[in-house]
Amino acid sequence: MDLREKVEPLPEEFDPKEISDPAGSAPNGVFEGGDGKNREIVLGRNVHKMCFAINEPEADDEITGEREAYMASVLARYRKSLVERTKHHLGYPYNLDFDYGALSQLQHFSINNLGDPFIESNYGVHSRQFEVGVLDWFARLWELGRNEYWGYITNCGTEGNLHGLLVGREVFPDGILYASRESHYSIFKAARMYRMECIKVDTLVSGEIDCKDFRNKLVQNKGKPAIVNVNIGTTVKGAVDDLDMVIQTLEESGFRDRFYIHCDGALFGLMMPFVKRAPKVSFKKPIGSVSVSGHKFVGCPMPCGVQITRLEHIKVLASNVEYLASRDATIMGSRNGHAPIFLWYTLNRKGYRGFQKEVQKCLRNAHYLKDRLKAAGVGAMLNELSSTVVFERPKDEDFVRRWQLACEGNIAHVVVMPNVTIEKLDAFLNELTQKRSSWYEGGKIPSPCIAADIGDENCLCSLHQK
Ligand SMILES: Cc1ncc(COP(=O)(O)O)c(C=O)c1O
Repeated sequence: MDLREKVEPLPEEFDPKEISDPAGSAPNGVFEGGDGKNREIVLGRNVHKMCFAINEPEADDEITGEREAYMASVLARYRKSLVERTKHHLGYPYNLDFDYGALSQLQHFSINNLGDPFIESNYGVHSRQFEVGVLDWFARLWELGRNEYWGYITNCGTEGNLHGLLVGREVFPDGILYASRESHYSIFKAARMYRMECIKVDTLVSGEIDCKDFRNKLVQNKGKPAIVNVNIGTTVKGAVDDLDMVIQTLEESGFRDRFYIHCDGALFGLMMPFVKRAPKVSFKKPIGSVSVSGHKFVGCPMPCGVQITRLEHIKVLASNVEYLASRDATIMGSRNGHAPIFLWYTLNRKGYRGFQKEVQKCLRNAHYLKDRLKAAGVGAMLNELSSTVVFERPKDEDFVRRWQLACEGNIAHVVVMPNVTIEKLDAFLNELTQKRSSWYEGGKIPSPCIAADIGDENCLCSLHQK
């Protein structure tokens, strides 16, 4: 049964399926894959085909109320599409389950934390009291004393990475940046922005950094300090780099006291502390900074993130700004003052115990999805510490768009977040198996081999099926 038939159709401009005119789509492009080879990627639709123009108000609009009515109808339809799109979302690591009704009273205020979180600026409509409370919570989570850390609430995980790597570069101005090939694109963007020499390190099939290759590359560049990005959950496979092994490799290769580690915990930074047997991210180890996205596992209506570093490092970056009566040590100038209040609200409600329960539920549901995919003959992989289930890329782009799956090359993934229930996974699985049967004509056409992406043992193509 096609589940689409059950829902009332959306207006064309909101319907993910309706506008599929290739001429109106953004052009596809050729990009370098993680393996260094060029391949074509599918870009999303051209939004210019469906945007809402801004029309100058007519002189009598206020009297007739027509404009108000038009805007209300656009917003009502948009809201309806959001409900539908939220229901069918599986591919990005966003927890879409939250209720911030109690905070709606704050939307009338322009809350801005411009400048340093710890130093009040002359702009009084701020939320630093909440921001610092949230930062204290994260510093405690990652074991850095109240008087030893500095941090701020960022606009997103990317900003945390840009900040962490900038601190690393300021600590070691001639350092070389090392990052695994499967690091998020923001890491390589930082290298370009800061004009840093950047060396890509190979990965294992799991997506983890390959410390053998790391060692080889370090010893070839012994003359310069190392700035290292460590992934606490890679974007596509949810792989967690072995922080202890990275530190050991650096020390054994002659880099003791000549390295800076930034941990990109955008995805699992907040999940890992609650996963049994997971290696610990802690400032008791020689790391320089950790960042996490706030809108991912926590769930938040606006993108945000948290960045924590050692107070001693920030001194090399900061400068005082008289105009603000504050210190400038952040990447952005104006900073979203609402986001800290949203984070504060959720952390207070859920606490460590609440997050622990949610993490366990996500891991359980991720196992359920992987097992059911495999039982249906779909090759799938789930890293031990992760809730990202990687599987064969669906053949049909409409299906990908309908479930908002993230794809790369031959693989796609579902990131199981707290809002992804067994019922939702069942609906997805039923639809996928039904569609797949028609894509591959009930098995007459062989499904693709994805062993190179997920390992021989996880691939279920005709060659690797046992
Ligand atoms: C590993 C990793 N780092 C950084 C980011 C960037 O986070 P944001 O989208 O919050 O900027 C992502 C996003 O998915 C990610 O997966």
